[in-house]
Amino acid sequence: MKVLITGGTGYIGSHTIIEMIETGKFTPVCVDSCERSTPETIDRIEKITGVRVPFYQLNICNKESFFKIFEENKDIIGIIHFAAYKCVPESVEKPLEYYRNNLQSLENVLEACLKYNVSNLIFSSSCSIYGEVEQLPVNEDTPMGVPFCPYAHTKQIGEEMIKFFAQVNPQFNAVILRYFNPVGAHSSGLNGELSPDKPNNLMPIITQVGIGKMEKMTVFGTDYHTRDGSCIRDYVHVSDIADAHIKALEFLMEKRNGTNCEVFNLGSGSGVSVLEMINAFEETTGVKLNYTLGARRTGDIPAIYSDSARASNLLHWQCKKNIVEMVKSAWKWEQNLVIND
Ligand code: WQD
Repeated sequence: MKVLITGGTGYIGSHTIIEMIETGKFTPVCVDSCERSTPETIDRIEKITGVRVPFYQLNICNKESFFKIFEENKDIIGIIHFAAYKCVPESVEKPLEYYRNNLQSLENVLEACLKYNVSNLIFSSSCSIYGEVEQLPVNEDTPMGVPFCPYAHTKQIGEEMIKFFAQVNPQFNAVILRYFNPVGAHSSGLNGELSPDKPNNLMPIITQVGIGKMEKMTVFGTDYHTRDGSCIRDYVHVSDIADAHIKALEFLMEKRNGTNCEVFNLGSGSGVSVLEMINAFEETTGVKLNYTLGARRTGDIPAIYSDSARASNLLHWQCKKNIVEMVKSAWKWEQNLVIND
């Protein structure tokens, strides 16, 4: 069963393709503009799996070229839609680019589902749709909050677009997966997150400071009302996130979905603080990190983590990899990047 992966040379997309090949139930076809990734990811996937994934390098905002894929692959039964810009600070600086890119791409995906009778869609959403939360852990019934940036807003609008589309297309089935903080890398050390020169996210910054690419890092705020004053997040290993996408496809193919638009939070059920993550890295790798305790980062929320009961009961999905494996795999990938630089 052929499944189109948009954004398939990206961090989560590439790990999902690897997982799909290794489980063998679905056949991936990859499309990516490589504006924020590299075609070399296809080589890395081949090195890990022995499979060269069919790959279209194009921007799916361009409907003409995007629809060509469906003309050439009449047997696509599903789409996993990862392709989107996802940098929070950049979305604040360039809101129109985020609305155009993230919403136009989704609109084209939905139009393709209609035009080519593709009846299964898995949509990559984010915990950022919650904004600042009072009640923890969150779950799928926690209402969307006031969006704190255009990126989060595009994910909220995207979820609503899919819900309204599903309402008038009963033959169409969607699963919306809300990621919390994906981290780590493939256990082989041959695939992982390719950060921009200056990463924003905690784990790539930790490993770059550890390896010496960055001289030092700052803990953004230690005066939050959390157990150690630093922010708490729900970190989930990227391979566990990838596994959830295969399980979501199986959930739809086996018609276990109650409605034709189901939402799942991909969280671990508990949170880890910044200082705890730094400590886990130092303990696991034996590498001392050069960090200072600094001021809060604008836009950060004190804590968020998710109850994982719904995904566990209905998708039969759990987080299998713990914080040590998250740190170990991220560190192995960072070391390999240096060797292959
Ligand atoms: C985690 C914590 C920082 C760097 C964002 C998006 C979210 C998702 C994941 C797309 C925060 C702290 C970080 C540093 C630090 N992306 N930190 N020093 O902000 O929770 O989530 O990325 O879907 O949508 O919002 O992740 O990794 O940037 O930060 O103290 O040098 O680490 O303040 O508390 P975040 P993050």
